[in-house]
Amino acid sequence: MDTERWTAVDRYVTDLLVPEDGALAQAQHSAAAEGLPPISVSPAQGMLLHLLVRSLRATRVLELGTLAGYSAIWMARGLEDGGRLVTCELDPHHAQVAGRNLERAGVADRVEQRVGPASGSLDAMAAEGAAPFDLVFIDADKDGYPEYLRKVMGLVRPGSVIVADNVVRGGQVADAACEDPAVIGVQRYLEAVAAEPRLTATVIQTVGSKGYDGFSLALVIS
Ligand code: SAH
Ligand code: DHB
Ligand code: MG
Repeated sequence: MDTERWTAVDRYVTDLLVPEDGALAQAQHSAAAEGLPPISVSPAQGMLLHLLVRSLRATRVLELGTLAGYSAIWMARGLEDGGRLVTCELDPHHAQVAGRNLERAGVADRVEQRVGPASGSLDAMAAEGAAPFDLVFIDADKDGYPEYLRKVMGLVRPGSVIVADNVVRGGQVADAACEDPAVIGVQRYLEAVAAEPRLTATVIQTVGSKGYDGFSLALVIS
């Protein structure tokens, strides 16, 4: 088993079930053309996020880490009428590329972009008394995950779902001696999830076009 085989299966699944339309393909093309790193979710993962938004009948979704807006397009397209996605991005160039992609996808009216460190945007939303989010997708810098979780807990309600991307990292998450700050970040994140009585959660390992990684899914229970 290797990445080539995982990628072939991802392609099979994508062709069969997850056709990308012009706007999604364009978002990926523009990201490459503008020199953004190729680290968006895969089409199959984008569809999973889209299905979560729809299953929850979400009207408020929060994303940390916009990049070129690829995952944001998938999620925004699943929102109930009148629903809103807030997406936070540190890099102004990424945010600018994403803004054009969201516009082309016809979802810009449903998406609010916040530019700057996600931690500051979370503080601002708390200070503004933002209504709770139904779904939160954490996908920004991995060493920030523990702090993001603490702040996100003030922006959710029982029944909300928190998904965190890239928590397996080629299996390194199980290596307690790993010194990579990104790995330590996801380890601290998962420990904080485990210690939080308001959450019940799991981690699912994934393989595919993005290699070997995984995501965690946590339900807010109180
Ligand atoms: N969710 C996107 C991929 C996000 S990649 C998708 O699947 O399409 C991670 C993004 O997080 C990058 O664009 C990076 O610039 C951004 N980022 C890194 N540090 C950040 C921070 N402190 N606050 C907000 N965004 C950050
Ligand atoms: C990286 C970040 C991601 O969000 C991802 O899905 C894959 C890789 C990274 O920073 O390397
Ligand atoms: Mg990611």
